[in-house]
Amino acid sequence: MRLSPSRTERAAAVSTYKTIIEPFRIKSVEPIKFTTRGERAAALDAAGHNVFKLHAEDVLIDLLTDSGTGAMSSQQWGALMQGDESYAGSRSFYRFRDAAQALTGYAHIIPTHQGRAAERILFHTQVRAGQIVPNNNHFDTTRANIEAEGAEARDLVIAEGRVPSTVHPFKGNIDLAALEALLEEDRARGGGLVPLVMLTITNNSGGGQPVSLANIRGVRALCDRFGKPFILDACRFAENAYFIKLREDGQGHRSPLEIAREIFSLADGCTMSAKKDGLANIGGFLALNNAAWADAARNLLILTEGFPTYGGLAGYDLEAIARGLEEVVDEAYLRYRIRSTAYLAEKVASAGVPIIQPAGGHAIYLDARALLPHIPPLAYPGIALANALYLEGGVRGVEIGTVMFGRQPDGGEVPAPMDLVRLAIPRRVYTQSHIDYVAEVVVSVAQQAQGMRGYRLVSSPPVLRHFTATFARLPGR
Ligand SMILES: Cc1ncc(COP(=O)(O)O)c(C=O)c1O
Repeated sequence: MRLSPSRTERAAAVSTYKTIIEPFRIKSVEPIKFTTRGERAAALDAAGHNVFKLHAEDVLIDLLTDSGTGAMSSQQWGALMQGDESYAGSRSFYRFRDAAQALTGYAHIIPTHQGRAAERILFHTQVRAGQIVPNNNHFDTTRANIEAEGAEARDLVIAEGRVPSTVHPFKGNIDLAALEALLEEDRARGGGLVPLVMLTITNNSGGGQPVSLANIRGVRALCDRFGKPFILDACRFAENAYFIKLREDGQGHRSPLEIAREIFSLADGCTMSAKKDGLANIGGFLALNNAAWADAARNLLILTEGFPTYGGLAGYDLEAIARGLEEVVDEAYLRYRIRSTAYLAEKVASAGVPIIQPAGGHAIYLDARALLPHIPPLAYPGIALANALYLEGGVRGVEIGTVMFGRQPDGGEVPAPMDLVRLAIPRRVYTQSHIDYVAEVVVSVAQQAQGMRGYRLVSSPPVLRHFTATFARLPGR
């Protein structure tokens, strides 16, 4: 008989109160720098109006990404000291492998320095030029790594997932009929067109929206029928599992861990960036059931990342990830996490600012195209809004729109399906008053929308241009 209640049961005991509080207290603080409007204008000029190029210390509230920007727990910091830095067969690797296996159930766990390294290794070993990889929405690095192999990254998210204002509990779902049609075409052409099926949980490029368990089961069934491997992009698996618990019929009684395990059991492997739901500052892994695929992956891993028991990571990184994978499925943590994102969404939406509805798990997405209808997509409304947020209040978000996705493999440019600015919330970093401040800045910028102008590209690299491109503001009326 177990006498002491679990952490989750204790959290449930206090959750009878309406206020959901941060399930931690702060032991170590880091100052943030207040700047003047003039200093911020100069910083934007120096950065070529690309907020990726700002010095982070000139940013007051940094919502550029939730990737690797979270606060580690005292348990994780403690675990760092346990890091075994042996080149081969380190104790930390086995600890990491066991934690990843206990969660996912996959036979082969291959550490990588971050998610995109897992993607590159998977696609370079399994995808050929001319093939098509379907997904709900490919993230930018996923798309770029598929395109780097000469293949097509095809987005098949449901229709509701393409309309920011449409409310749907699982806007990240893949369109199963469209997937079936693609797999039929693949069969008609001999089966070599689609090497694998991917699903991104939660769907970052589509607004951090979750995928339902029913939809994941549907993908499994189609993959079984057509004999295709099914690989998850599992960066935010815990947030997705918690949305399933909250929103899907018959799932409310299950723990996030149980739901996560079922999700993983429905696929044949995953790519993972531990910088998100690994609660770590760096790291990732590729997990596979197929031994031949894992062998090919490990051979490439040795070439570019390192020996298969460290994969580009220090032993202490492996320790931090192992602990993070266990902490992230804690229900009290997930309740606070999902609620704090929804809190920001409610504040800005109630002031009339258009956002993707409902709020995503890790971020809210401002609909720059709807807010700035006078700026056409090819004059980058998302860049205009990201610049304005920084200028107004030192808040850094990121454009997820035509700059990120509009460039075509042939070098041309078309409007992306949406022009968004994502405000991603780092895990366990900002307090409620920081978030209140962000909401105030967003609302104030929205009130100045009519006076805002578009941008043009000044310089642009051939791949993943949004990271380093520079811009100039278009002349005013
Ligand atoms: C859905 C998704 N997939 C893959 C990646 C790539 O992970 P990493 O930044 O660790 O390379 C990201 C990063 O943001 C992501 O959000």
